[in-house]
Amino acid sequence: MSKAHFGLIGLGVMGENLVLNAERNGFSSIVYNRTFSKTETFLKGRGFGKNIEGAKTIQEFVDKLERPRRILMMVKAGSATDAVINNISEYLEEGDLLIDGGNSQFQDTERRVRQLESKSFGYIGMGVSGGAKGALEGPSMMPGGTKSSYDAIENLLTKMAAKVDDGPCVSYVGPGGSGHFVKTVHNGIEYGIEQILAEAYDLMKRISRLDSNQMSQVFSQWNKTEELSSYLVEITEICLKTKDDFSGEFVVENILDKAGQKGTGLWTVISALELGVPVPTIYASLNARVMSSLKEQRMEVEKFLPFDVDHEFNFGNISNSMKPLFDAVVLSTIASYAQGMDILKEASTFYNYDLDMPSIAQIWKGGCIIRSKLLKRIQDAYEKDPNLKNLIFDSWFNNQISNKLDNLSYVVSAASKASIPVPCLSSTLDYLNSYRTNRLPQNLVQAMRDCFGSHTYERIDRDGSFHTEWLQ
Ligand code: 6PG
Repeated sequence: MSKAHFGLIGLGVMGENLVLNAERNGFSSIVYNRTFSKTETFLKGRGFGKNIEGAKTIQEFVDKLERPRRILMMVKAGSATDAVINNISEYLEEGDLLIDGGNSQFQDTERRVRQLESKSFGYIGMGVSGGAKGALEGPSMMPGGTKSSYDAIENLLTKMAAKVDDGPCVSYVGPGGSGHFVKTVHNGIEYGIEQILAEAYDLMKRISRLDSNQMSQVFSQWNKTEELSSYLVEITEICLKTKDDFSGEFVVENILDKAGQKGTGLWTVISALELGVPVPTIYASLNARVMSSLKEQRMEVEKFLPFDVDHEFNFGNISNSMKPLFDAVVLSTIASYAQGMDILKEASTFYNYDLDMPSIAQIWKGGCIIRSKLLKRIQDAYEKDPNLKNLIFDSWFNNQISNKLDNLSYVVSAASKASIPVPCLSSTLDYLNSYRTNRLPQNLVQAMRDCFGSHTYERIDRDGSFHTEWLQ
């Protein structure tokens, strides 16, 4: 075999599928895994008969690649990624480039870009979304880092990426850690939408007393609408109607109600708050996972603070696709995207990423976990106004809000009367109600701060900074 076009390090689920994708698109490949037995198993299995070779050592791996070398690392984020970089660096030559396709923290990527660029290597931190199937058939990819390196792999990435009607779901995101930053925010939005759909399920099940088949029917109807047609709604329908091999019952009903996380949702919320961007819907979804992990406490407390679920509320029925609930889910989903886009906009200025908002919507339109029809509307909104302050200011989105807000309010108040927690729906309602009032009670917060700490305050009737001797 002559020298290969492309090298992959890390034969985990994503790595395997990405290298098969690259090979299918005409890029001969070399693979390396820390344990060679895994490489052998892959080459005898899914890699058999393909233009893919294995390497036993990093040196052999590097030697078998054409120059400039294009190497994708699919290893665990954190110290494992640093270890691979340190190990391979001594064999690389000027112009070679490393791509980190894991879910790395964007500050780590910033550091690695600086470190590798200073050695004249290129470095790309690339968010990859779509799970195993997406990786094989066409993922959504968010590459950021050295621009000249991106140019050297644009052809490869464009061929590998998911395609939608108007183009591929990949493009250069920006410098430094911007690719991983965008992927992190993608995941924050993902957390939000997952929790919103879970809350809708809870309300349909516990208040409206729909069975699993009926609920999956509702999600299937929602998936046919412009507002909610999306991958996550599609798989919710599937999850709800899938039966268990063990018990013959619906699998979902036998799954423990505790959700973990690998960190990206937390990083999204931390970054948002550091940048001064309110993200209550996304934050609520993260908090809901943390709350869910207190299973033992919840079981104990339910015994001494019991409640009866009130069924008197009307969330509609299957023939009108549970209209009030649909409206609440649409607005919360919009809020999740709006908050994510706001983080990106702020980060774009603060970190000098110069992000192109319509291009990011384009990347997310296919292949990734948050792909949806709404992203076309989001892309249009930012194309119309690149400085859009928030999706609320776009006419299509503010029409959605005016038409659906009453139903969101109804659903949240019904859920609270029925003692069913709906953290994402209720945070969305507060978010929208906060956004649409020109008078919040922070005047009193300012008064208190000034009263105990002389922090001063601004006034509505004159300019300047003021202090009152409150405790005279
Ligand atoms: C994707 C996903 C994936 C991610 C988990 C996040 O885009 O394909 O975002 O990259 O790792 O879905 O997971 P947790 O829920 O485990 O934090």
